[in-house]
Amino acid sequence: MSTVAAVDPDALLAELVATPEGRADPYPRYATLRARAPVHRSAFGFWALSRYDDCQQLLRHPGVGKDFSGALNSLGLTDEQRSEQDRFRNDRSNMLTTDPPDHTRLRGLVTRAFTPRTVETLRASIVALVDDLLDGFDTGEVDVMDALAYPLPVTVIGEMLGVPAEDRPALRPLVRSVTAILELVVTPEALAEASAADAELQEYFAGLVAERRARPQDDLLSKLIDAEDKGDQLTEHELISTAILLFAAGFETTTHLIGNGMLALLRHPDELARLRADRSLVRPAVEELLRYDSPVQIAARTTYEDLSIGGHEIAKGSIVLALLGAANRDPARFRDPERFDVGRDEGPPMSFGGGIHFCLGAALARLEGQIVVDRLLDRFGTMELVEAPVVHRDSLTLRGLMDLRVRFAA
Ligand code: HEM
Repeated sequence: MSTVAAVDPDALLAELVATPEGRADPYPRYATLRARAPVHRSAFGFWALSRYDDCQQLLRHPGVGKDFSGALNSLGLTDEQRSEQDRFRNDRSNMLTTDPPDHTRLRGLVTRAFTPRTVETLRASIVALVDDLLDGFDTGEVDVMDALAYPLPVTVIGEMLGVPAEDRPALRPLVRSVTAILELVVTPEALAEASAADAELQEYFAGLVAERRARPQDDLLSKLIDAEDKGDQLTEHELISTAILLFAAGFETTTHLIGNGMLALLRHPDELARLRADRSLVRPAVEELLRYDSPVQIAARTTYEDLSIGGHEIAKGSIVLALLGAANRDPARFRDPERFDVGRDEGPPMSFGGGIHFCLGAALARLEGQIVVDRLLDRFGTMELVEAPVVHRDSLTLRGLMDLRVRFAA
């Protein structure tokens, strides 16, 4: 566990965003921030909220949205790079980046595919897929990230959407490069890489749309094309952008639910044993994995009107960050929040956000998480972390591990 060097809220934020220590363990920094300045107007130009209720209030507020024009500019970018960053952040072509009424229209086209009831119909195929992946696990040491955490969700969303299996490996690094734009600090190199990757993804999905248009199949992409063909429901650019969003959001996050979750369980053998002894805890345990170390740590909004949050007046035109990982450890919301407790039953974590942008894939992510935990416990009597330093990805908004070596035995 790392110690917190800084106490000044801005220095804490800088540590969180830009140091390996902050990335490895943001939680002590969140705790200090929440105690000292829970509604903090930073010197970097944005506000940061670290209490559960304040984050909830922000995300549910009708006077906030996703227009980040000219805001949150990363340091060290040229004017040209800055406008490229703006172009990315303000591409108003998919639900994640739009406000109503476009948001309502774009989300409405796909909500049905992601309801808990529809997602439940995928259960048997997800169990079979997990079992296939686990077949290779009793041979000793396994990198769980490569062998399970990535292939499971990419296969599930790939099949739903209609992205052919043979194309998925090449798309993985492109998606990873593009997600750099979600970080608070984007280096010129990361921005250039993200732009190039975005161009490749656009080209790939444009090709896939053309193929499906010629030969529709029973997949979500064909259904979206059908919606496009039926009138003004969505443009070609919106169609491609929505397909990329669904594909990327469908695996990049769930991969880290599995990775971060597995790490939390292996670091708490008593809780793992408790779960093994009482499988009715699998459902709350997955909520606890989401709360304890969320794959998504930040949701940002712009204020379209003056707002009063936690006793602070936030002016119209401000950027406000909901620090989801901090909200998840708010002692005013969760009892003894630093404790990992698979039996905790205190309501949902903030990990899926809130308000109109509440995660579309929450039911799917939960189902995948529950099946993974259940099948791992069924198949392996022993699971042990292989002693090695745990290395986190160089990112805060999306929090996850580079690899996770585990020894399994039946
Ligand atoms: C554990 C896994 C996941 C986590 C922690 C997660 C987290 C989130 C969060 C925090 C948001 C809100 C962002 C904001 O308010 O700005 C979001 C939105 C979204 N998520 Fe997830 N997500 C996960 C899995 C998935 C999956 C499996 C899909 C499947 C396609 C998905 C699709 C989406 C989409 C499309 C949105 C945008 C919704 C909107 O803007 O209306 N997510 N997710």
